Amino acid sequence: MKVIATVAELRATLKAERQEGKSIGLVPTMGYLHIGHMELVRCAKRATDVTVVSIFVNPTQFAPNEDLSSYPRDMDGDLAKLNAEGVDYVFTPEVAEIYRQGAHTIVDNPVLSRILVGKIRPGHFRGVTTIVTKLFNIVQPDHAFFGEKDYQQLTIIRRMVADLDMPIEITGVATVRDEDGVACSSRNAMLTATDRKAAVVLSRALAKAEAMVAQGQRSVPAIRNAVRAVLDTEKRGTIESVDLRDARTLDPVSGKFRQPVVILLTVQFGKVRLIDQRVVG
Ligand code: PAF
Repeated sequence: MKVIATVAELRATLKAERQEGKSIGLVPTMGYLHIGHMELVRCAKRATDVTVVSIFVNPTQFAPNEDLSSYPRDMDGDLAKLNAEGVDYVFTPEVAEIYRQGAHTIVDNPVLSRILVGKIRPGHFRGVTTIVTKLFNIVQPDHAFFGEKDYQQLTIIRRMVADLDMPIEITGVATVRDEDGVACSSRNAMLTATDRKAAVVLSRALAKAEAMVAQGQRSVPAIRNAVRAVLDTEKRGTIESVDLRDARTLDPVSGKFRQPVVILLTVQFGKVRLIDQRVVG
């Protein structure tokens, strides 16, 4: 495994791989890797010849009042995990390597990035689409891998790739969960032990919704109320949002749904915002 910190060296290295006819898979991350990330890496390794993992805590997707400085980091631990998994290249640029002085250009989806999490975190998805575009331009992958846990992010990236004719296959990888059902996330490390236990309420609420749909329930208000009722049983969590949306477009759904729908939850524990999702129907 080779660790590369500059755009120029990564480009030159991958050009040589491409000239040998090898396909390239990219797993973009912000580090502090957990088993969910490792699942993305395994999918990339199965699907492509050369696997590139980027580790870059992207400042432009954090608002000034957000947790950029306290975002957990463990470069040595991350590199050991990636090495054990047989990753070919890890891209670890400094901020100045990615955001050069005088840069103005951004990539934005003014529709999907303003709703749901985008409403709570203005500017967040603009930061994501800009950095992911830059990573796509630097690595020029054939295939890129993102977790389904960040469902809105995945939907926005799929939309961007289609809208901007980026020749990249996007694969969404199912959420990996701890034994108690809590979705793996780097943010879990920032929870107190009590809040970590309480966080299981998100997956319990989603399981309730899934069971209702399995029994034939298709009413948006009925499912939303049932999900809220489960979340309300955990007083440590503050519900920020419970949304049911068209699973493909994220358009709002109301009344009774006929198409697959995604249930999106945002719950705050102390200063830590947790999200989770499930597609039903
Ligand atoms: O999902 C993440 O970790 C980040 O949003 C991403 C896609 C690596 C962009 O910084």
